[in-house]
Amino acid sequence: MLRKLLIGTMLAGGLVAGYSATTYAAGGSVEVLHWWTSGGEAAALDVLKKKLESQGVTWKDMPVAGGGGEQAMTALRARVTAGDPPTAVQALGFDITDWAKQGVVGDLGEVADKEGWDKVIPTALQNFAKYDGKWIAAPVNVHSTNWVWINKKALDAAGSKEPANWDEFVAMLDKMKANGITPLAHGGQAWQDATLFDAVVLSFGTDFYKSAFIDLDPATLGGDKMVEAFDRMKKLRSYVDDDFSGRDWNLASAMVIQGKAGAQMMGDWAKGEFLKAGQKPGTDFVCIRFPGTQGAVTFNSDMFMMFKVGDDKKAAQLQMASDIESPDFQSSFNVVKGSVPARTDVPDTAFDDCGKKGIKDLAEANASGKLFGSMAHGYAVPAAIKNAIYDVVTRHFNGDIDSKEAAKELVDAVAAAKG
Ligand code: BGC
Repeated sequence: MLRKLLIGTMLAGGLVAGYSATTYAAGGSVEVLHWWTSGGEAAALDVLKKKLESQGVTWKDMPVAGGGGEQAMTALRARVTAGDPPTAVQALGFDITDWAKQGVVGDLGEVADKEGWDKVIPTALQNFAKYDGKWIAAPVNVHSTNWVWINKKALDAAGSKEPANWDEFVAMLDKMKANGITPLAHGGQAWQDATLFDAVVLSFGTDFYKSAFIDLDPATLGGDKMVEAFDRMKKLRSYVDDDFSGRDWNLASAMVIQGKAGAQMMGDWAKGEFLKAGQKPGTDFVCIRFPGTQGAVTFNSDMFMMFKVGDDKKAAQLQMASDIESPDFQSSFNVVKGSVPARTDVPDTAFDDCGKKGIKDLAEANASGKLFGSMAHGYAVPAAIKNAIYDVVTRHFNGDIDSKEAAKELVDAVAAAKG
């Protein structure tokens, strides 16, 4: 056991076979735009900031609060329009491709080639971190959106059974309600509603998810099963408290942490909040895949997209990219963030049980063809279509339209956004 641990630590410490770190900068600065402002997110970002600072690189922080990153993308547009983009920007999937098309992003080829990123970063991520065959972004992690975070005491009080399917999930939520707590902690923001929808749609099967969100098949988007999916969303809404409107996701996590609510459906960044609060998986909280989605994963990956910068800033930018892809950083950062490494060769030794499960689930889903980009988090469709889906999902969640109307509007909204 000790031997295994030591090997794991050594590997995570940078001795991954074939890996050698690069030094580009002694000094210089990076300006970094991101939306990691919650307690858990800030703690994770600090790991990167400290690593760069230890190499003499100055960190200029540009935080733009707002889960899911919509506000950050608006702030970025203003900076690029003014001709003054930051060095590095946290970004997701199709947004990265959209910026690349504008011709404003940098080129990380030098560091990616030297460090062999092609061999260790999964293709599903390369599809977005590269444009026209060139590396333009450094993937930090892989998150997934089909998780449920459950307060352990509340679960025990509700009969201790981890729900394995929709009916058991509903039964658990009913018991929590009877026990006098808010069953489902949720914040009424479009991206959070869409995060629930990701999981609910996936619970009708991977073919259904793919047909709806990857292929955008009108018959699937407007069919009976989609009406059923919306009915499930309506049922979930009935377990949310009345003050949910506008609530930030981390405040919803806090309700579960404090035992005021039983569970939260959220990506694994939520785990960062539980850890920051000193809680332990298995003891204080439980992580399960959203019932009915076991074996499948809807992923998103935070990437630092690099912008074209002057020669004076290039070395620090390459240093940041190199640091992000180093195996020891991938381990230490993701342990805090709640996500899993963006490289396939990082040992899981330092991760807790939820992290180990996340790493295993990702590898298995990838191998069995059950890994799909998250619609809610920019990896299934471009922003225009994503926002069109958000709009329908949120109006339905708020009770403005019924399930049949929602499925019908989904077809029209997607068609209009596709143009
Ligand atoms: C990002 C996470 C972040 C979450 C909430 C997601 O889109 O991928 O890194 O923690 O939004 O802000």
